[in-house]
Amino acid sequence: MKKDLRNFSTSDILISPSLLAADFRNLGSDIAEVAKAGAELLHLDVMDGKMVPNISFGVPVIESIRPDSELLFDVHLMIDRPLFYAEKFVKAGADHITFHVESSDDPAETIKAIHDLGVTAGMSLRPGTPAEALFPYLDDLELVLVMTVEPGFGGQSFMADQVAKIAEFKKEIARRGKAIHIEVDGGIGAKTAPSVLEAGANVLVAGTAVFRHPEGMAAGVAALR
Ligand code: DX5
Ligand code: ZN
Repeated sequence: MKKDLRNFSTSDILISPSLLAADFRNLGSDIAEVAKAGAELLHLDVMDGKMVPNISFGVPVIESIRPDSELLFDVHLMIDRPLFYAEKFVKAGADHITFHVESSDDPAETIKAIHDLGVTAGMSLRPGTPAEALFPYLDDLELVLVMTVEPGFGGQSFMADQVAKIAEFKKEIARRGKAIHIEVDGGIGAKTAPSVLEAGANVLVAGTAVFRHPEGMAAGVAALR
């Protein structure tokens, strides 16, 4: 059964553990553990070594973990050609696809393609890109992803100067009377979550703080809540 982001209210706080920080030898058991801990989403960071200076994992990994998990697969494409690859990721099991405004493909066309594939669409932006860069597309999105680190690597420090951007999106979304999730990604943990929630984010991505919590993943998810 496909999970649908639209079934969650934008006033619900949702946790999306980033698989990038999992133990890659034991993906199945790590994913089962975050599901048991109460996470709603699973954040899947796909990097192509072109849009970001790192290569992570792609279609075959997502395909292989799909049958054993009921979590909503929240795929974050840090790739240069999201339009070209969208269908392959949906076929592999993506329930939601977020791509970057900095990618090479036309945003409006990419959003349409994602919707035509039957999943929800999100757009993200680098810390140096202003919120306004997404405003022309906002009405067609189910989610906006605010990066609070430079995309490419897990385990980096939270950039507090991005909190104002979250508030800007919150204000613009309210002005338009839309229900759009605001997700935040990078350096999120128990210490940084309050400021982003206060600014209006409702979906928290956390890699290190969940998969590498010293007391285990359940404690990591609980600390975020
Ligand atoms: C960074 C990725 C993040 C990353 C977050 O490019 O988009 O999702 O895995 O990792 P933490 O939570 O460790 O900062
Ligand atoms: Zn991410």
